[in-house]
Amino acid sequence: MAVLTLEHVDQVFGQGSARVQVLHDVSFAAEAGSLSLIVGPSGSGKSTFLTIAGGLLTPTAGVVTVAGEAYQSRSAKAREQLRLTTIGFVLQAYHLLPYLTVADQFKLVDRIKKTGNLSRPALAALLAQLGIADLVGKYPAELSGGQKQRVAIARALYPDPAILLADEPTAALDGPRVQVVGQLLAELAHTRNKAVVVVTHDQRLIPFADAVFDMTDGRLARV
Ligand SMILES: Nc1ncnc2c1ncn2[C@@H]1O[C@H](COP(=O)(O)OP(=O)(O)O)[C@@H](O)[C@H]1O
Ligand SMILES: [Mg+2]
Repeated sequence: MAVLTLEHVDQVFGQGSARVQVLHDVSFAAEAGSLSLIVGPSGSGKSTFLTIAGGLLTPTAGVVTVAGEAYQSRSAKAREQLRLTTIGFVLQAYHLLPYLTVADQFKLVDRIKKTGNLSRPALAALLAQLGIADLVGKYPAELSGGQKQRVAIARALYPDPAILLADEPTAALDGPRVQVVGQLLAELAHTRNKAVVVVTHDQRLIPFADAVFDMTDGRLARV
């Protein structure tokens, strides 16, 4: 079942001579239990696509639905609730809070979303799987780019969202870590029935995907 759809989405930024159309008639459906990979070069519109898919940006034209209902027909509060409970984001800038240790990044989630988060053992297993279990006492500034990236992935998964949207989740990772993250994302889709959507320029993730799309100059095509 498609849990997230984009139908005929256009995105235009700017006006007049500064007008740029970044997405052209993009249609897409993400299925539960499936890892969808959108591959394209820098500047092709991937982050814009993901921002729209997550309801953080309303497109210039077209409709985006989550769980069968359009963002546009939900109230701002309902959209916020949806992002809290149903959609996990791994964004390019990691968005870790600088004054919180890794362990506290998760406790903060508990304060914002009180129920339905991973159990302590499940979180411990996830941190071990990602190779970051011994970093829980550290602050983001003490972590490498790859470590921050893996903490950001774990934090996005902690609320156990039905949909996971990830922007370049492997950009800072070396080959073996890419394999771990690719396997983890595929496993989440397959064994936990999540709809996982990854946008990336990293061709190394292609073997893990169930559906691969190409994004070129704002046009999306199934590969
Ligand atoms: N808020 C914005 N205003 C104007 N142009 C933007 C904005 N956001 C993105 N763009 C432009 O849209 C194009 C696609 O950007 P982006 O979606 O970030 O691509 P990608 O993630 O594939 O690198 C780029 O040319 C970028 O400069
Ligand atoms: Mg991007």
